[in-house]
Amino acid sequence: METEQTVGIGIIGMGWMGMTHARAYRQVGALFHDSGVHPKLVVCADDVVQRATEAKARFGFERATTEWRQVIEETSVEVVNIAAPNHKHLEIVEAATAAGKHVFCEKPVGRNPAETKAIYAAAHRTGVVTCVGYNYRWAPVVQYARQLIADGKLGKLTHYRGRFFASYASHPRAVLSWRFQKEIAGLGTLGDLLSHAIDMAHFIAGDISRVVSQQETFIPQRPVAPEGEGTHFTLGAEGPTAPVTNEDYVGALVQFENGARGTLEACRIITGPKCEMAFEVHGTDGALRWNFEQMNELEVYLPTEGGFSDGYTRILSGPSHPFHNYFNPGPAVGLGYDDLKTIEAYQFLQAVHTGKQGQPGFREAAAVADVQAAIQTSWEEDRWSSI
Ligand SMILES: NC(=O)c1ccc[n+]([C@@H]2O[C@H](COP(=O)([O-])OP(=O)(O)OC[C@H]3O[C@@H](n4cnc5c(N)ncnc54)[C@H](O)[C@@H]3O)[C@@H](O)[C@H]2O)c1
Repeated sequence: METEQTVGIGIIGMGWMGMTHARAYRQVGALFHDSGVHPKLVVCADDVVQRATEAKARFGFERATTEWRQVIEETSVEVVNIAAPNHKHLEIVEAATAAGKHVFCEKPVGRNPAETKAIYAAAHRTGVVTCVGYNYRWAPVVQYARQLIADGKLGKLTHYRGRFFASYASHPRAVLSWRFQKEIAGLGTLGDLLSHAIDMAHFIAGDISRVVSQQETFIPQRPVAPEGEGTHFTLGAEGPTAPVTNEDYVGALVQFENGARGTLEACRIITGPKCEMAFEVHGTDGALRWNFEQMNELEVYLPTEGGFSDGYTRILSGPSHPFHNYFNPGPAVGLGYDDLKTIEAYQFLQAVHTGKQGQPGFREAAAVADVQAAIQTSWEEDRWSSI
């Protein structure tokens, strides 16, 4: 039997994601209880003092601080979990990896492709275990879709359409949070949303070889956000506005190394879809489609003899699909977003426990960064760009 291990966790940034990660580590202990690895919430950091102290009280951290460096200095912290805004990621990863800590970093990892590559290099030098928040991979039916493709059930892939259409900024009074500011966020939708869609394309359909893209900022001014308050879902009052300095929309035609053709698109101001992180993939022998808004459903098309019952079949997430059984023993008793974060935390802790780097780590983030760099080159130079 594997030895038991308690892993000390420090989380930096206790906003939306920091709290989600804290819940996920707590759930790992309850749901994957016999895995041999037990996360312990040691310290949480946020530069807004009440966010740090509230998180300590809510999730049971031993300590709270406003100084992220104290998380890294704490000897009982083995995992540094980064959920601060993007401009802090490089500095924190460099300090954490230099101290020999394993690192979870939220996407898009760096503010831009160069920073993501620098983050990958810093971790690679020290050999620590890494993980990135490409959580949509972990939906049980997405794992099953990947398996069907790997088993050749779709034949040779011909088409892939990936997208992330979110409405979080569709209201013109959605405040100018850090996400809309190039200085803090770096890339706009290409970093925030398309990073998920590119990673999913890599996971489902393989490497991308060439892209041609376009981008747009549809809402160029937004209300100034109150200091230390609100998120990117907050609506501002009438009052002073400031410029949005990164893109709302990005779209690209893509070619895959295996010959498949397709599109990748993301937008944060679109109306209609709320959180449509979705893909459709077609091969010579069949097709699949999935949309996070119906995250427990996978539509599978595998032609039948004679074509009499041809059509997409709706498969519901159930205990025969990866991970589902840890949450519910019943078919169609569905999982939610937080459960994806719990699976992600579990997979990361297993990698820390065994010392074997898993996927997606910083290597996969660097691969996403290469595609982002090509997309950016394409819109800047108005031409196809190779990866
Ligand atoms: N994987 C996903 O689905 C997903 C979803 C949302 C956000 N994210 C990523 O997670 C990260 C955080 O996003 P969020 O939505 O949680 O943002 P947020 O604004 O809700 O939270 C960020 C928190 O970091 C704190 N902070 C800022 N500077 C700090 C510093 N120097 N030290 C410590 N704390 C600091 C802020 O006070 C805030 O509480 C981003 O990189 C974002 O891209 C990923």
